[in-house]
Amino acid sequence: MRATPKLIRLLVICLIITTTFTVHLVVGKQSQHHAAFEPPDSGTVVHGKQVNKVAKALYPLHPFPESPMQVSLSDDDHNHTSSQPPKPWLAAVICAAADFEHRAAIRSTWMQLFRDVPFDGRFVVANPGPQWTAMVAMENRTFGDIIVLDHLQEDDVTANTVKTLEFYKWLVSHDYRYEFVSKMDTDLWLNARGFWDKFLAPRLSNKTGVWKSTVERTVIGELYYTRSWDLVFPHGSMYTVTWDMVGLLSSLQSRFKVVTGEDMALAVLMLKGRERANFVNFRGTEKFDYDDRDSRGDGTAWSRASTHPNSTRHALYGTDPIAIHELKDSKLWRKVADCFDETGLKKAPEPLGPDRTPFSVHWFDFWDFVGFGHRHRSRFDGIPDFLWSFQDGSWICDDIWNLGKTKTGYSAA
Ligand SMILES: *[C@@H]1O[C@H](CO)[C@@H](O)[C@H](O)[C@H]1NC(C)=O
Ligand SMILES: *[C@@H]1O[C@H](CO)[C@@H](O)[C@H](O)[C@H]1NC(C)=O
Ligand SMILES: *[C@@H]1O[C@H](CO)[C@@H](O)[C@H](O)[C@H]1NC(C)=O
Ligand SMILES: *[C@@H]1O[C@H](CO)[C@@H](O)[C@H](O)[C@H]1NC(C)=O
Repeated sequence: MRATPKLIRLLVICLIITTTFTVHLVVGKQSQHHAAFEPPDSGTVVHGKQVNKVAKALYPLHPFPESPMQVSLSDDDHNHTSSQPPKPWLAAVICAAADFEHRAAIRSTWMQLFRDVPFDGRFVVANPGPQWTAMVAMENRTFGDIIVLDHLQEDDVTANTVKTLEFYKWLVSHDYRYEFVSKMDTDLWLNARGFWDKFLAPRLSNKTGVWKSTVERTVIGELYYTRSWDLVFPHGSMYTVTWDMVGLLSSLQSRFKVVTGEDMALAVLMLKGRERANFVNFRGTEKFDYDDRDSRGDGTAWSRASTHPNSTRHALYGTDPIAIHELKDSKLWRKVADCFDETGLKKAPEPLGPDRTPFSVHWFDFWDFVGFGHRHRSRFDGIPDFLWSFQDGSWICDDIWNLGKTKTGYSAA
């Protein structure tokens, strides 16, 4: 009687091994790569799904009413900010006009916590339409941090295709100049202190009292390869570009009018224009998707002892975390926020008990241990070798991204 379940278990394991192995072989085969400077036809892809047309007009796009912030002179803090020299860094969160909740959460957490870092935090929305215009105007009169692209309609397709490039065009046409411009999603927690100290400050000078970037044509982000679209581009949850890149991408978009997934569009435009840019890549320890199952299981966001800190998905570990993605749930957001103070990530407290790791995590550990599955590698490690070339002393990825002398996925300033 006892032999039967054992046998079944054995069979199931054999079956899984065979299937995994087959999938590994089939999927692992090098796919046909697009010709040099010929971007694949990616069509319009939103959340991995192909859509045929740009959505039809839902409401008339009336100009957004001017609604500047009402500064109260008694408010020391506001006075303080307005009298400061211009900031070198624009940290822009792309969000839906009606998403008041995320804006409130972001304003009151990392934007507030890291207010001593010289950045301007802004929210970029499309035309709020008749339903939300009054409320968004009121919000801007209170906080003064909303950029309205009132020529764009608020819908999923627009938000996930052309919105970031339209934002860049808006920055150029309004001469809203910053040395570095970051774009991020609402489900990304930013350790602005860590990003500033490690990535921006080393690439800026202020000898004359004015901030000036010491690098050109540079993108800071997390390189991401998708097999289905045969492209490598900075993962859309957050990337940062120098001001010249804002100009370059705006003009390329005016020329080519690419409508595709917003992060993919960067790679498509660069290929079409035969342009190259320097790329500074985040390590897996610095930018990653938050995985609560990798936490200690004690209600905090700190990782278990046997975490894989270089992988695409994990909990908070070490001193590196800068951009933490996939925090759609407000409980997770708060958990992660609790691990930071104004100096950056806190030191992880000693665990009070043993890690309570779910079985599924041990299961993945096991497959990783026996050499299957790529769960524990970073997005960078997922880029196939055939996309790399070494030219004039620099590593180039997908003919676009110049990583410099070392292909470590990380270049110091
Ligand atoms: C705020 O700034 C205004 C003009 O820039 C100045 O007249 C005023 O004294 C300042 N108030 C405080 C409290 O610093
Ligand atoms: C929002 O407020 C800021 C700060 O006062 C102002 O510069 C900006 O023009 C306002 N935006 C709109 C769309 O009125
Ligand atoms: C220039 O940089 C130094 C050191 O990072 C900083 O203390 C100072 O405030 C900066 N000056 C300006 C004008 O921002
Ligand atoms: C993470 O990657 C670094 C090199 O980038 C390596 O030195 C380190 O051992 C890796 N950590 C783990 C736990 O694999």
